[in-house]
Amino acid sequence: MIHKISIELKIIISIILFTMIVVSVDRYQFSNNTMQQFMKSKKSKNDLLINTIIPIIALNISLGLEGANQEYLQQIIKQNDDLEFFELKDANQKILYTYTKTFPQNSHQKINGGNFYSKKIVDSISNEQLGLINLHFSDKEFQEVKEKNIETTLSIFLITLILLILFIVIIKREFRDLKKLNSYLVNYDPKLNNLTLAHSQREDEVGVIHNTIKSMVEKINSHAQDLDEMNQLLEKKVLERTKELIQKDSILTAQSKQAVMGEMIKMIAHQWRQPLSTITLQISNLEITKMLGKVIDKRQEEETLRQISNTIVYLSDTIDDFQKYFHPEKETTRIEIHELLQKAVNFAIPRIERQAIDLKILKSKDIYVNVYINELVQVILNIINNAIDSFVGLHREDKFVHLYVKEEKNTLQIVIADNGCGILEENITKLFEPYFSTKGKNGTGLGLYMSQKIIEKQFDGKIDVVSSKEGTSFIIAIRR
Ligand SMILES: Nc1ncnc2c1ncn2[C@@H]1O[C@H](COP(=O)(O)OP(=O)(O)OP(=O)(O)O)[C@@H](O)[C@H]1O
Ligand SMILES: [Mg+2]
Repeated sequence: MIHKISIELKIIISIILFTMIVVSVDRYQFSNNTMQQFMKSKKSKNDLLINTIIPIIALNISLGLEGANQEYLQQIIKQNDDLEFFELKDANQKILYTYTKTFPQNSHQKINGGNFYSKKIVDSISNEQLGLINLHFSDKEFQEVKEKNIETTLSIFLITLILLILFIVIIKREFRDLKKLNSYLVNYDPKLNNLTLAHSQREDEVGVIHNTIKSMVEKINSHAQDLDEMNQLLEKKVLERTKELIQKDSILTAQSKQAVMGEMIKMIAHQWRQPLSTITLQISNLEITKMLGKVIDKRQEEETLRQISNTIVYLSDTIDDFQKYFHPEKETTRIEIHELLQKAVNFAIPRIERQAIDLKILKSKDIYVNVYINELVQVILNIINNAIDSFVGLHREDKFVHLYVKEEKNTLQIVIADNGCGILEENITKLFEPYFSTKGKNGTGLGLYMSQKIIEKQFDGKIDVVSSKEGTSFIIAIRR
């Protein structure tokens, strides 16, 4: 509520209240004192008069000089203008002298008011009552003083009122500038830059506020302008950038399509190299046998053809698999895991026919899994091929590549362990990078990169490596 009243009104109301209270209290005390003072002096004057005339009247009465008394009293009445009523009685209540200017209409009140005096006249020697005087003083002077007082009070209030009005006018004037400033600010819109404040010449607080606001508004205006310019510039830049991005995006889409194609072709080529050379090897074996004039055993011929046919099926499957890998949406198949490992091993067997490498699966029990069979076979074959490669140029007895499966809580771990050359510590972190290979012309460096991608993407799993001079183990962990 108090916050709804303007400061201006609050100041005015407080000053009026304060002034009125101070003036009223002061006036009240002052007039009270004056009246009391006046009454006191009046009373002492009256007492003095009575005390002066009583002995003379007493003397005249006791001497029987009534005429002298009358003369004396007339003189006294003449000298005391404020005497309105005078009465002299003897001891028998007989009126000896009476004077009435105007008899008080409400004498009772006047008596109580202290203006009515009734005094016994006593013989100072015999102490005997000689008579009585009743007199009444007019309260005209008192009334005059009272009126004067009221007049003074009124004029003081009037002056105070005039001063207050003057003060209110001044206050209003002081606030007028602030109100003007306020209405300017209410209508101010930085977008329109519609505030044109003149510099205030005032040096007081209002002037300071005015000029501070003026400079603030100027700053806001210039900032708003800057912002506007910046916004326009930004909009332009955003438009340009968007255009650029759209262009780049279409280029990128085209490029990524090409890259996908390229990667697919590289991966297919990688997967095909080994089987193709196996087929070539098998055909040339048959040819050599024929050239040597030896009879080709029917069984051997059928076996070779069966192997070639299997390899060709694998080649064809590889294309399908990679197509699916780049557009993955196919079903998993339930299979016994060692059977799956055997599929991969079968593809590698022709490679090691003339090498003394013990490539085998160590099985303890049947474990069934739901997997994308061909993808997993590709990955395992890649790792088996790397293991076979690790014996190149290595003279070691009891070369082996062993595959086995470990069951963990939520995962199935396929371990492919060899006792080949091992991997240098500094190469371990680079194994899964694309194109990392230590085989020069004979390696693309895509095998492990591709395998890791397949395991992560299709099997939500991972591939770990443990390697030393004694050999290497790859551990493929897939979700069960
Ligand atoms: N079992 C392993 N023993 C020793 N080194 C290995 C083994 N497996 C992988 N490596 C190392 O990791 C590198 C990367 O293997 P990756 O299969 O990705 O490519 P690559 O075998 O060189 O080429 P590609 O697979 O195209 O023939 C290999 O060049 C080799 O140095
Ligand atoms: Mg490889």
